[in-house]
This record gives sequence, structure tokens and C-alpha cells, in this order.
Amino acid sequence: MKKEIIITSDGSSSIYIPEWDESYHSKHGAIQEAYHVFIKSGLDLFKNNTQIAILEIGLGTGLNCFITFLECQKRNLKINYEGVEAYPLQAEEIVQLNYVQQLKAKTQTKYFNKIHTSRWGEDIRIDSNFSLKKRKQSFKEISDKNKFDLIYFDAFGPKVQPELWIEEIFKIMYQSLKYDGALVTYSAKGSVRRAMQSVGFMIEKLAGPPGKREMLRARKV
Ligand SMILES: C[S@@+](CC[C@H](N)C(=O)[O-])C[C@H]1O[C@@H](n2cnc3c(N)ncnc32)[C@H](O)[C@@H]1O
Repeated sequence: MKKEIIITSDGSSSIYIPEWDESYHSKHGAIQEAYHVFIKSGLDLFKNNTQIAILEIGLGTGLNCFITFLECQKRNLKINYEGVEAYPLQAEEIVQLNYVQQLKAKTQTKYFNKIHTSRWGEDIRIDSNFSLKKRKQSFKEISDKNKFDLIYFDAFGPKVQPELWIEEIFKIMYQSLKYDGALVTYSAKGSVRRAMQSVGFMIEKLAGPPGKREMLRARKV
């Protein structure tokens, strides 16, 4: 499918798919959305954990991975990060993304590059506290059990990929989380919430990022 680089309202870039009228991030601000949904509503829950295992559903541009890495450095955490992605972006697309500049992280450029150039399917040390495994597979093929503290559920929206927001997928997510683990997502759709509840998740509705009234956090309790 054809892809276009766009600039979202906070100045950060994203990728737009005209055929679906869908972008990789919120048009109201890719970086703002990532911090709100995944860091403030997700990672911050684990403030007292020294070691955190994170699964990202849709590694895409690597934005969530990079900001999590930056937070890991700032907070001196130890993070094992696994990102699942069936359709990796091309290097020519990645070089057009402005996250390093927008995040004022020029000194960390080498880490952003390492996220993208590291080999798929291998455990890579991005630095001594942050390991990354990029998994080239479909979400349906995930078979981890009780492994992750936190899931960043960042699939394309239910409008364009409804098959990813159903019980079958959330069951896979539930099984891959540890008890007391959490899944965060930008969607607050009623059918999504009900599908999560039906596999055992306890749901919290939280304030959404700019441009969205609500988002969901699902807990395995
Ligand atoms: C909303 S975008 C991800 C945004 C990403 N988290 C980021 O920060 O750039 C959704 C991602 O899921 C990937 N994807 C779509 N369907 C998939 C599937 N069935 N299995 C694995 N990856 C899929 C897409 O290629 C895309 O990169």
C-alpha cells in the first residue's frame, strides 16, 4: 500500500496510508499521543519495578520503542522490549521521520538508528539497561505465556483492521501478560472494551490524548 510521510499537530512526523485514510499515529500529535497513552498511562504504572518486560503490538516507526528507551535512561530502569511487526518499514521511510529532532534527542541518534538496524529475531542490547527483540510475525502468531508486564497495543484502528480488535486477539494478549500486568491502547470503542472484558480483563477508561476523549487500560488481575 502507498504510504506518505505527514507532519502531525505537535510537529512530529507520522505515516499516512491514503487507501485506508489511516495514519500510524494520531494526527493531533504523534509524540504527544505516544507519551500520553504508552508512557503516562502504561509505563508509569511500573514506577517501582526495577525490571519491566514490554510487548509492543505494531513496532512500526519505532517511536514508542524510542521514547520508552529515553525514559529507561532517564529513570534508570531495566527494560526488556519486544516489538511485533509483520510489515517492517523501509530504511528510506525511516530516515524521513523527525523523532530525534522533535524529542531533542540528537545525542541519542545512534540508539534510534540501532533500534532500526538491529536484526530481526535476535535479542539486542540497545544499551546496558535496554534489550530489544524485533519479532517479524503476525499478531495472531504470538504464543508467549505470562511473560510481559505491559503491552502497548498500537494496531491500526478497528475501523480499518477490525479483525485485530476481537476476543481471539485479546485472549492472546491476556495469556502473554503476567498477573498484575496491563495493556494500554488509544481506542475506547465499546466493542473493543467488551471483547477485552470477555477474555478476563478488568477495564479502566482513562482520559485520552489530545483529540480523543477516552482511552483504555486493561488489567490482568
Ligand atoms: C498503528 S501502526 C503502529 C505504530 C507504531 N507503534 C509506531 O509507533 O509507529 C500499526 C502497525 O501494525 C502493523 N501490523 C498491521 N497488521 C499486523 C498484523 N496482523 N501483524 C503484525 N503487524 C501488523 C503495521 O505494519 C503497523 O506498523
